[in-house]
Amino acid sequence: MEKLVIHGRNRLSGEIEISGAKNAAVAIIPATLLAQDVCRIENLPNISDVTCMFKILTQMGAQVKIINKHTVEINTKTVNSYIIPHEMTKQLRASYYLIGALLGRYSRAKVALPGGCNFGVRPIDLHIRGFELLGANVTVENAMINAKADYLTGSSIYMDKVSVGATINIMLAAVKARGLTIIEHAAKEPHIVDLANFLNAMGADVRGAGTDVIKIHGVQNLHGCTYSIIPDQIEAGTYMVAAAATGGDVLIKNVIPKHLESITAKLLECGVSVTEYDEAVRVVSDGKFRKCNVKTMPHPGFPTDMQPQMAVLLTVANGTSIVSESVWDNRFKYIEQLVRMGANVQVDGTIAVFQGVPELTGAPVRADDLRAGAAMIIAGLMARGKTEIEDIIYIDRGYEDYVEKLRNVGADIYRKTIVPEGNKMGSAG
Ligand code: EPZ
Repeated sequence: MEKLVIHGRNRLSGEIEISGAKNAAVAIIPATLLAQDVCRIENLPNISDVTCMFKILTQMGAQVKIINKHTVEINTKTVNSYIIPHEMTKQLRASYYLIGALLGRYSRAKVALPGGCNFGVRPIDLHIRGFELLGANVTVENAMINAKADYLTGSSIYMDKVSVGATINIMLAAVKARGLTIIEHAAKEPHIVDLANFLNAMGADVRGAGTDVIKIHGVQNLHGCTYSIIPDQIEAGTYMVAAAATGGDVLIKNVIPKHLESITAKLLECGVSVTEYDEAVRVVSDGKFRKCNVKTMPHPGFPTDMQPQMAVLLTVANGTSIVSESVWDNRFKYIEQLVRMGANVQVDGTIAVFQGVPELTGAPVRADDLRAGAAMIIAGLMARGKTEIEDIIYIDRGYEDYVEKLRNVGADIYRKTIVPEGNKMGSAG
């Protein structure tokens, strides 16, 4: 067990390299099951969600060859089962992409319901409806999703809600279905486009990804390919906010500025300077922020996965700021931790009202989930004094080498091993 120790108020200065996108990687890795071939994937982030997905594929019979820290070759010729038990899926919510991938490969899938972050209910009704419209019979029993069809048939699917996961899962099932599938009201996140590009590199026919309407002409067979994952939009946004929070001057490299537009716009509104280059953004701030209102929306709106991070700036912004979380029904749990550091925030359902305070002060806090954990790091970097963050295993899921990346730009942050209570030397007999 480890915790983070941060001594705040160091201005971040220097360069940070962004890694591959977690939410693209956890969709593209299962997609390799759609071909009985070898796929070489590059620019993968070295994070526990990715290694967990490798483990699942290996347990299914695939061969995952680690080429280097960011590159693997996945051979799925030897995969021989469409059944994924709970002990494999419980570690990773994105394991539900295996349903779409296995339906695409076998027209069958029997996958244990996933786990997931602890912010609100995370239903999969839109995934199931998509599979049924493609001709699969889907039942849920003993916490297992059981989907089967003689073969899948293309269909027109109008999504009741914009759903990243359901859009991805339907794409995975549809690429080898017979005929045309049209997904309307589709999610448009960068990782949806990245998955479509990967599938097309395998010989699929996916058009319109990144728009509201995705058209997929089913093909008989897919083949292996070599593919490089896009940079992580949310990792980049997280470091942009960290640079601003400390009144720093940081060049964030290996990004696609277009993917960051809504984050850049919100930082500019707060009075932060953001300069865009071809594959980098430079963030400069004096550590003072104007109040602003944030409403999270599906892409290209402000990303919900940046909501906790942006909220940290608003705790010390000048005036009253309002954050409206429109994607998840309970994503303000982390506010409790910010209040321990002196923030003045009122939460009412999916709305949080921030009264700016002069500063935050360091405190022992915890990471409630992945992005909440990232927000606590930003708060610790900005606060006066020492902050200790527990439950950092959540942060390890989605941010590669974050302690090293932050130390390289001057942050006073390190990991500290926690000795469990009962094991302390000399503890009472
Ligand atoms: C993906 O989750 C991301 N996870 C989340 O990022 C992200 O917050 C979310 O998209 C929104 O961008 C991965 O990509 C692995 P949704 P997902 O389906 O697919 C409702 C992170 O920090 N809904 O777009 O689960 C749902 O309850 C994680 O990297 C249904 O009602 O999100 C939510 O209110 C956290 N029925 C809304 O849609 C369904 O069948 C959007 O969810 C599916 C979703």
